[in-house]
Amino acid sequence: MHLRPRRNRKSAAVRSLVRETRLSASDFVYPLFIHEKEVDEEIESMPGCKRWSLDGLVAEARSAHELGVPAVVLFPAIADELKTPGAEEAWNPDGLVQRAVRRLKEAIPSLCVITDVALDPYNSDGHDGLVARDGEGTIHVLNDETVECLCRQALSHAEAGADIVSPSDMMDGRVAMIRHELDCEDFLEVSILSYSAKYASAYYGPFRGALESAPKDGDKKTYQMDPGNAREAIREVGLDEAEGADMVMVKPAGPYLDIIARVREATVLPVAAYQVSGEYLMIESAGAAGWVDTKAVALESLTGIKRAGADIILTYYAKRAAQWLKD
Ligand code: PBG
Repeated sequence: MHLRPRRNRKSAAVRSLVRETRLSASDFVYPLFIHEKEVDEEIESMPGCKRWSLDGLVAEARSAHELGVPAVVLFPAIADELKTPGAEEAWNPDGLVQRAVRRLKEAIPSLCVITDVALDPYNSDGHDGLVARDGEGTIHVLNDETVECLCRQALSHAEAGADIVSPSDMMDGRVAMIRHELDCEDFLEVSILSYSAKYASAYYGPFRGALESAPKDGDKKTYQMDPGNAREAIREVGLDEAEGADMVMVKPAGPYLDIIARVREATVLPVAAYQVSGEYLMIESAGAAGWVDTKAVALESLTGIKRAGADIILTYYAKRAAQWLKD
């Protein structure tokens, strides 16, 4: 016997020399929930996460940034009375997200601020797009009418100072239209991170609780992808790349590592992956019950996502993982 792979594992020093994937705080994007209230509030459906006031948001983003996390992405909880069928609040220049972006860019200029472009926090139907009902009462999510709204929303985020706008709606053709809108208004430097392969996933449940944004009627299966499909993800990525996306995303991450790996092969663009609320909570709840070691499992799952091919990881663990990696 002369082939002994164990030689490369014989000490911490050798293991560190041959390690192929290294997690770093600079891989992470920190998703943060915000609301209009003056106080920070624990989120019942997502223990360990808060809905931040604007002051709380700035403090939390700063402490994550000081640990090496380069970017945050914002998700607003919008008051019921501001939700309308037309989702007009989404592009209010003084809306919650727009004010939050201005505050963050003023307070922490080196922080990359990403905004979510989709209508679900704003429309009274809880869908990512505008909803129409046919004679039978069946709902239809309108594509092209929605894309016009998304363009206005993305533009208002750019005007507020967003570095990257991130359409998570899965309407067809939105990347090209948003790029066109931003270019026409001279926002040549604002990037588009497209949720290219976003699946109709049960793992989003806790997030919808956090924003009270669950669809009132029907589900999201006519726009988000079927969990059984992989080739279709490559098609979506190809379209978004051709339409001018700067980065593409796969979501969720953990149950879709094969998709991350295939997308990595299919494009030279940076690939992001979103470890979503349900993935986070499965680790958190098993950890809280004493069944797994939260820190070890969280870091291992993030390493797996990076090893599969993700350059960028959106994770609710961003700040804690940055701290763990430092310790
Ligand atoms: C909606 C949006 C969702 C998430 C991010 N943006 C939920 C959905 O599509 O219903 C989910 C994130 C998570 O579960 O952590 N535009």
